[in-house]
Amino acid sequence: MTRVVVTGASGTLGRALLPLLQASGAEVVALSRRAGPAAPGLTWAAVDLIQPGALAGVLRTGDVVVHLATQPLKAGADVALTRQVVQAARAAGAAHLVYMSIAGLERLQGAPYYRDKWAAERLVDGSGMPYTILRTTQFHEFVDELLRRLTLPVPGLGPLTLLPAGVTLRPLAAGAAAERLCALSLKAPAGRVADLCGPEALNFPELARARGRRRVLSLPLPVPIFRAWRGGAAVPTAAQPVGRTWAQWSAGR
Ligand SMILES: NC(=O)c1ccc[n+]([C@@H]2O[C@H](COP(=O)([O-])OP(=O)(O)OC[C@H]3O[C@@H](n4cnc5c(N)ncnc54)[C@H](OP(=O)(O)O)[C@@H]3O)[C@@H](O)[C@H]2O)c1
Repeated sequence: MTRVVVTGASGTLGRALLPLLQASGAEVVALSRRAGPAAPGLTWAAVDLIQPGALAGVLRTGDVVVHLATQPLKAGADVALTRQVVQAARAAGAAHLVYMSIAGLERLQGAPYYRDKWAAERLVDGSGMPYTILRTTQFHEFVDELLRRLTLPVPGLGPLTLLPAGVTLRPLAAGAAAERLCALSLKAPAGRVADLCGPEALNFPELARARGRRRVLSLPLPVPIFRAWRGGAAVPTAAQPVGRTWAQWSAGR
């Protein structure tokens, strides 16, 4: 039976991936700082990957290691987390390192998080380990959370949603990314594989309207990822469309 160790298992993608791996008959070991509930074929370990030696005794020879742990708001964190995972996977003799990344990184280097993701990809590529890297666009779940955070109560007016001006995204459901990731994890290492995106490109006013935001205000918000996304930079030129549209996904919420 394939043993698959998933870092970042409590995150958006991790939570979608675990049941797919379990249903595929893999022995799944889920890692994050907060452990979740165990289930048949699924064990959890509470691990802070930033601590030296955090993975000692967790990884075994022949494991598939799916590395999803991320800290988007802490500059340098993804590089440090990935370095730890690469070193531990190599030392344990893991058979396959699977890394999740972001479509269009080359065009998005104005934002520290995307610079970190690119540096982390290079660590994986230079590790000497058999690996697979899957890049996707932003998840519907992440865009939805952004809209929630950008919605403010205005006394006498009601909720107002601030939107990053000049930004178009082509988001996909995390579940669709998890399906591809599950399949790739259980196959032979494939290096960098085809990027995934959602079925349609939408600008922020369109994304906001579909989620019921009535009052919106587009502004050049001074946030690094919003600046990086401007001018279509986040919309991949060549990626495979998968999963539900934003409207279909929204209807199911
Ligand atoms: N979100 C998107 O739109 C998107 C799009 C494309 C690619 N991706 C990539 O997909 C991957 C997963 O993203 P996500 O959205 O699922 O992330 P997420 O929801 O933010 O989850 C992050 C995960 O990392 C864990 N983590 C963070 N710091 C840790 C540490 N020091 N030690 C151990 N675990 C730690 C968190 O668990 P604890 O807090 O419990 O430790 C959590 O499980 C990332 O590589 C991301 O770059 C995301």
